[in-house]
Amino acid sequence: MTERLTATPTGIATAARILRDGGLVAFGTETVYGLGGDATNPTAVARIFEAKNRPRFNPLISHFASAEEAFTQVQATPLARALAERFWPGPLTLVLPRAPGSTVSDLAADGLSSLAVRVPKGDAVLALLHAVGRPVAAPSANRSGRISPSEASHVLEELDGRIDAVLDTGPCAVGLESTVLDLSSPGRPCLLRPGGVPVEALEALCGPIARPETGFDVAPLSPGRMLSHYAPSLPVRLNATSVGPQEGLLAFGPHPLPDAAVTWNLSSEGNLEEAAARLFAGLRFLDSQQQVFDLTGLAVQPIPAQGLGLAIQDRLNRAAAPRPTEPDAP
Ligand code: TXA
Ligand code: MG
Repeated sequence: MTERLTATPTGIATAARILRDGGLVAFGTETVYGLGGDATNPTAVARIFEAKNRPRFNPLISHFASAEEAFTQVQATPLARALAERFWPGPLTLVLPRAPGSTVSDLAADGLSSLAVRVPKGDAVLALLHAVGRPVAAPSANRSGRISPSEASHVLEELDGRIDAVLDTGPCAVGLESTVLDLSSPGRPCLLRPGGVPVEALEALCGPIARPETGFDVAPLSPGRMLSHYAPSLPVRLNATSVGPQEGLLAFGPHPLPDAAVTWNLSSEGNLEEAAARLFAGLRFLDSQQQVFDLTGLAVQPIPAQGLGLAIQDRLNRAAAPRPTEPDAP
């Protein structure tokens, strides 16, 4: 059952407690309703993808109560600070290099070295984010492929029973997602998604903005951008049914394949949510064991093609994809 909370101090405190405990709460921002979870908790983030029925992982926007808090998670440039000063709270998302001490989980950032941050507008949402005191990951609160909700009742139509609560903050003023601006690489800022703040308003402050001709909203998956994804340095072999003594094993389920040099089980109980939450940590761990065990590659046991399994498979397919020999500069 999804609890419907009102935007009163009690309702906001309840919503904050659920989020801090790893639960999911949808809440209104000035753009659309977001499906919020603690961005530092990979299990909460896995639940977001599960609730949305997303066939693949996407990098999520982390939401904050203030620019100061947002800028603890990313390396803010003077331009980023100027844009924040002018447009936050408001419908602008900035993509910046992650700060070395960033606490946002790899699953929320989809393993990228950059992070999308935003301070939304609205008294209730800001009070909520302040009470949570952690980055809150929030994609639009619809099932994958459906229309973004701009009222609490729309959220319930899509997600009733799949999330813990919805904080009813009334209808959204903008009704269209935030503008996503990439400031993560040196040079000209790049528009990744048109949205609530017109590009012209941004250009008045930061000069010409590059606009990719195609692929709005898919930029992180375009070939150039895939290079900045975290991929293990070892070659990855999928759907393994046996494993060699110089391979690291990413196992799944109660029967990890024998003979691997080193094993990381995504979920010994065969739970896909747990597997999603442990995926990036597992890839990093096995990669870190390369020298220790003289590994030549990583083998991955089959993952069921259902629910979050599809998203896990998608991410592993990308990790196993052929890589260019000379990666571009990040
Ligand atoms: O208005 C909004 O932005 C809403 C409300 C809830 O805040 N949120 C939203 O989130 O639209 P979502 O997950 O539906 O869209 C996030 C967009 C996607 O296009 C994603 O690819 C992009 O932001 N994005 C997130 N992190 C990124 C990154 N590190 N680099 C490039 N793009 C990123
Ligand atoms: Mg969306």
